[in-house]
Amino acid sequence: MFNLKGKTVVVTGGGRGIGRGISVAMAAAGANVVCSGRNAAPLEETVAEIEAAGGRAVAVPADITDMATPPLLVARAQEAFGSMDTWVNNAGSAARGDVGALIDIDEGQWDRVVDLNMKSAFFAAQAAARAMRDQGRGSIINITSRSGSHPNPMTGQYGAAKAGVENLTMTMAVEWGHMGIRVNAVAPGVVVTEETSAVLSGDRAQKQIDSVPMGRLGQPHDIASACVYLASDEAEWVSGITIPVNGGSRIAIGHLAYMRRVAKNRGA
Ligand SMILES: NC(=O)c1ccc[n+]([C@@H]2O[C@H](COP(=O)([O-])OP(=O)(O)OC[C@H]3O[C@@H](n4cnc5c(N)ncnc54)[C@H](OP(=O)(O)O)[C@@H]3O)[C@@H](O)[C@H]2O)c1
Repeated sequence: MFNLKGKTVVVTGGGRGIGRGISVAMAAAGANVVCSGRNAAPLEETVAEIEAAGGRAVAVPADITDMATPPLLVARAQEAFGSMDTWVNNAGSAARGDVGALIDIDEGQWDRVVDLNMKSAFFAAQAAARAMRDQGRGSIINITSRSGSHPNPMTGQYGAAKAGVENLTMTMAVEWGHMGIRVNAVAPGVVVTEETSAVLSGDRAQKQIDSVPMGRLGQPHDIASACVYLASDEAEWVSGITIPVNGGSRIAIGHLAYMRRVAKNRGA
């Protein structure tokens, strides 16, 4: 198992879902964790889970789309634990109100999704890199999505934002490598969280499972394991890559579902 003892990790969106899984796994590998998100209660639950297992963590409620948040999180990490070694850009999503066909979406739907998933991830990485430059080392991990490398009907702007982060990951890795900073991404397939469970039930869940060679949907710990590796010294020669963690799935099921709907409407 990779050893993160003495390292401090900031996880955005650490209160639930994949972010909680990453926070808990980082702490289990020995890291101090700064867990952030907008709502305090879920963050406190993550911290309690980490502390109950003997780890160290602090909760810092903040909105990552506020440009003052990344420097604040860097400062809190340094105050609480003396360094900031790994930054995980995990906060992200497309709210239900922002789902829509590209022919229909408006500027607000575009801005909310792109600001959260790409703009805030970039400026958070920049703030992290400025602190890491002073330390001469650091690892930045961007949580993207399978949607970043496939057509993503009904949330095209989300797929575009994640694709943008994967491209920025490569450029940041090139520009910041000489400062000792590694930048990588992890692209999950469908992972079971409260959010995905709410929209994936019965037949829809089974269709997703049927598209995964490994025969099941992902769990937060599947994504967290890749993140622990990328945070560790064992990954010291790994930078600028995106690791797909998706049970081997290649089928863009959203694409197929959309094409079925088009065919049905054509026949109607
Ligand atoms: N689950 C999947 O199937 C899947 C697949 C591919 C990629 N992903 C990616 O994996 C990451 C985590 O996804 P998830 O499914 O675990 O999401 P989730 O369950 O919806 O959790 C999102 C997390 O981000 C936080 N967050 C949202 N907006 C924020 C903001 N403005 N400022 C700070 N924190 C914010 C939320 O906390 P608050 O609401 O308290 O702020 C929450 O902790 C995302 O980047 C997502 O795009 C997920």
